[in-house]
Amino acid sequence: GNRIAPDGPLAGKHALVTAGPTREPIDPVRYIANRSSGRQGFAIAEALAARGARVTLVSGPVALPTPPGVTRVDVETAHEMANAVAAALPADIAVMVAAVADWRVEAAEQKIKKTGTAPALQFQETPDILAMLGESPRRPRLLIGFAAETQDIVAHAIAKRTRKNADWIVANDVSGDVMGGETNRVHLVTADGVEDWELLDKREVGERLAERIGDAL
Ligand code: CTP
Ligand code: CA
Repeated sequence: GNRIAPDGPLAGKHALVTAGPTREPIDPVRYIANRSSGRQGFAIAEALAARGARVTLVSGPVALPTPPGVTRVDVETAHEMANAVAAALPADIAVMVAAVADWRVEAAEQKIKKTGTAPALQFQETPDILAMLGESPRRPRLLIGFAAETQDIVAHAIAKRTRKNADWIVANDVSGDVMGGETNRVHLVTADGVEDWELLDKREVGERLAERIGDAL
């Protein structure tokens, strides 16, 4: 059946979601990337669309079908993702789920050859898309980030919420095998405190988050 609800709680709202990894090229055949299947971001985009939002999903390279009713923009690098996000504004809601590569290198034009000495890569930081939205005059009214952490999960997430001027941070324990898996254990960090959610299917995390977004707007 049709899962899109034109009269749902998010009808008339534009939601912007980032998902998946980014890839930063080293040369024409190699890249640096993060481990991310895109599943959690796609599930959130689908749940928002099912509640009536107009959804723009900016996705890095993933092997997933586009959820029903969602407008998808495919990108590769962090710079491309930042540009696609800026081009999709204004938005009422932004949920930044992408595992953006933190560093890029100046890509070589030709394939780097093996010479017996490993190349020394010079890293530069990529643009922080969530922080950019947090500072923007076109900041979405509800700005939500994710924080993938392997230790001190909630403390890092609380710091990120303030540093990036986000409303909520969904803190994500990636110390196990979450990356690419079906389930997620998250903590929702808001100005009011921290909620510990039980281990949930990524779809259920998407549903619950979309419901909370509907309540907040
Ligand atoms: N993020 C982003 N752009 C980046 C890096 C991160 O938009 N260049 C977003 C992510 O999509 C996520 C949030 O910022 O919503 C936190 O990402 P995370 O990697 O946990 O935080 P960082 O600030 O990159 O810090 P670190 O990797 O050092 O923990
Ligand atoms: Ca990071």
